[in-house]
Amino acid sequence: MIDTPLTLPCGAKISNRLCKAAMTEGLANPAGEPTDALEQLYGIWSDGGAGLLLSGNVQVDGDHLERPGNVIVAAEPSERMKRALERWASAGTRAGNHFWAQISHAGRQCQKIVNPRPKAPSAVKLGLPGGQFGEPEPMTEEDIEAVITGFARCAKVVINAGFTGVQLHAAHGYLLSQFLSPRSNQRQDHWGGPLENRARLLLSCVARVRAVVGPAVPISVKLNSADFQRGGFDFDESLQVAKWLEEASVDLIEISGGTYEQPRLLNLDGMEPVAEQSVAASTRAREAYFVDFAEAMHKQVSIPLMVTGGLRRLDAMNLALESGAADMIGIGRPMCVVTDAPAQLLAGVSELPRFEDTLSLLPAALKFLNGIKIVRTVGAFATQYWFYEQIAALGHRGTTQVDMGVFAATKAQTKAANDWLAERRALTEQSTGRAQ
Ligand SMILES: Cc1cc2nc3c(=O)[nH]c(=O)nc-3n(C[C@H](O)[C@H](O)[C@H](O)COP(=O)(O)O)c2cc1C
Repeated sequence: MIDTPLTLPCGAKISNRLCKAAMTEGLANPAGEPTDALEQLYGIWSDGGAGLLLSGNVQVDGDHLERPGNVIVAAEPSERMKRALERWASAGTRAGNHFWAQISHAGRQCQKIVNPRPKAPSAVKLGLPGGQFGEPEPMTEEDIEAVITGFARCAKVVINAGFTGVQLHAAHGYLLSQFLSPRSNQRQDHWGGPLENRARLLLSCVARVRAVVGPAVPISVKLNSADFQRGGFDFDESLQVAKWLEEASVDLIEISGGTYEQPRLLNLDGMEPVAEQSVAASTRAREAYFVDFAEAMHKQVSIPLMVTGGLRRLDAMNLALESGAADMIGIGRPMCVVTDAPAQLLAGVSELPRFEDTLSLLPAALKFLNGIKIVRTVGAFATQYWFYEQIAALGHRGTTQVDMGVFAATKAQTKAANDWLAERRALTEQSTGRAQ
């Protein structure tokens, strides 16, 4: 049940089965350092009753951001950065819960405004309309080694700062997930081709992270059950990777799915049809998008699994735990507004709100346009900005602004991202100028 503590293979104990899932905050300063807003946000979430908080993705490379405003640990930290990370970790653990940093590299899913030539496994561009993403450059052997070093350095830095664990982001189409997928990884060397080659980068990162953090620190991996794209990373491959992760001393696998091209993580459709998998979706999948995959995986993998996506009902959460499908429940979007959702569920509240079902970019009179696929896709991405705005409001003011519309949120977030990037460019120019 959700209130039962969980002991991980490394020996760490989580006080209950509820986790605030990773959600990018966009609240770092232009140097990529954690801010007062991040402290306030995670203090609020720590007080919310979850046994585990995951940070939004912290980037290991400042040229490959998932989004302007990411925290960036791409070098040995300055004293200022160390203190900022310590304050963030301290706020996020103030109620005695675990707080793990999610570590990531965006690869080709880095917007053009951040980097017009991002590095990726192969020169395969994202298949999205709108021209927001650049033409990727295939990584060299040195680039790949720098990624492994980057993940290990970042893990060491955050653990030294007081985070109680780390999660490597190998889902949702970011770099580690790009290497796993035969669509985005078309390399002919030992990093591409058969699955054991495509999984080499993830497994190398896990091994290097374990070596630097030691045996007692929780290491988690967020993994796609599938990319749900024809010719992409599928469930049978995910199962094999999960077995390798178990052998590699990973403590918890979080099961999600999809990419920017096929955003199944949010239960949304991409531009192409969803590729069916060897596990058929039961009716439970409407409530818990990946629970059937977790259940099938748990038959073959014995390390703890967390299932994230769509879970709103207390009975569905307890059923996922009781049936043995999952050991932890990840909760994302409800936490952007109901910051004490875990405490409420533990007190017996039967269901969390589904904000995603009521948000729309289009005014009521134009909603019929949602019948057009591209309009629906653009609208779905825009609703993310509404959640970003709630996170930003919690960080800056300690309260949400649920009355804000999706359009206004999109405008505000676009401006904030452009301002942040302009300031970051100015900072870079200053430091280059100083160096010359
Ligand atoms: C605003 C927002 C930001 C997100 N950022 C991240 C992220 O940084 N890392 C990640 O792994 N997933 C991220 N996700 C996906 C969530 O972790 C989760 O998988 C997804 O929201 C489905 O769970 P839910 O239905 O409970 O919201 C994000 C989702 C939202 C809504």
